[in-house]
Amino acid sequence: MTETNLAVLLARRPVGAPLPDDFTLVEQPVPVPSEGEVLVRNRFLSLDPYMRGRMSDAKSYAAPVAINAVMEGATVGEVVASRSPDFAVGDTVMGGNGWQRFCAVPAARLRRITASEVPLERNLGLLGMPGLTAWVGLQDIGLPRAGETMVVSAASGAVGQVVGQLGRIAGCRVIGIAGGRAKCDFVTQTLGFDACVDHRGDLNAQLDAACPDGIDVYWENVGGAVQAAVWPRLRDFGRMVMCGMIAQYNEAPGADASGAPAGPNLGPVVRKRLRVQGFIVSDKGWQRYPQFRAEMLGHVAAGKMTAREDVVRGLANAAQAFIGLLQGSNFGKLVVAVD
Ligand SMILES: NC(=O)c1ccc[n+]([C@@H]2O[C@H](COP(=O)([O-])OP(=O)(O)OC[C@H]3O[C@@H](n4cnc5c(N)ncnc54)[C@H](OP(=O)(O)O)[C@@H]3O)[C@@H](O)[C@H]2O)c1
Repeated sequence: MTETNLAVLLARRPVGAPLPDDFTLVEQPVPVPSEGEVLVRNRFLSLDPYMRGRMSDAKSYAAPVAINAVMEGATVGEVVASRSPDFAVGDTVMGGNGWQRFCAVPAARLRRITASEVPLERNLGLLGMPGLTAWVGLQDIGLPRAGETMVVSAASGAVGQVVGQLGRIAGCRVIGIAGGRAKCDFVTQTLGFDACVDHRGDLNAQLDAACPDGIDVYWENVGGAVQAAVWPRLRDFGRMVMCGMIAQYNEAPGADASGAPAGPNLGPVVRKRLRVQGFIVSDKGWQRYPQFRAEMLGHVAAGKMTAREDVVRGLANAAQAFIGLLQGSNFGKLVVAVD
């Protein structure tokens, strides 16, 4: 049987939460690499919240995916044919190779990785864009110091689990926020956070108990009601790392999405001399990837860093898994085992 390419295309732009019919699964011929290109067989595909933004044509920091184009996404896989001197058949690579089984891609867009260092899919989470996001955001904005209290939302997720473990390594008291008992138990028992509060319960009372002296560093992954609860608890000179607001991604731009009370009153930014800063990891983060990877592998070897992936089998299940990501149904870094 000759191999075919399997790909997921963007069929139409979602209104509100994405639906299965917003995606189409198609079979295509395997692409043929041109001079300077490499043919990659994708083994794992990363599913990430930013993809909701790429499905929309609202103005953003990156261009949208075109209708009937392959959905954008990072993958790890192996080189199966090469017309570049930089890669050989059998090399393990990562790159933005999309929701598909095969991809012919210019060599310059690939990064070679050592397959044996961690499980392959972990290169998309702990050692991939989400881990890099955590590391860059803490180094540049969060600036955690020993003895401080750090709060991390979506704490069991791809970014959150790395942020909190790095906070612990920096000597902070780290409190997670996650949805449900199982995720909270994982955050404290496996990741080693000092406590974790369940945003499905009374968040204000739980935060009062977990952070009696307030919050020095807040890592924002969620927005909405969670942000509103954290906001008044920030201490003087607190830092708020604005990484993402997933609770609001399915809403029209400018809408108050979450059903939460109107956004926080920004007055305390001045009174408390707070630093609130957003960032996008792709700005300059990848230039620091080698340093990040070496440091993280050191933490893994020292037993100070672990990770959990949520592996969905088969490209045919990618769309449903992505829809679930925006509702909190993933538990850990969400990846698709392509075949
Ligand atoms: N700035 C950057 O460069 C950058 C880079 C990567 C990621 N990000 C952002 O970082 C955040 C986390 O991304 P990730 O890849 O690590 O995802 P993730 O945490 O692995 O998965 C998303 C999690 O968000 C929580 N969630 C989803 N919908 C929610 C809602 N309506 N209300 C409250 N919580 C909700 C769920 O956890 P619970 O069940 O625990 O609520 C869900 O499991 C996202 O906002 C993402 O856009 C930003």
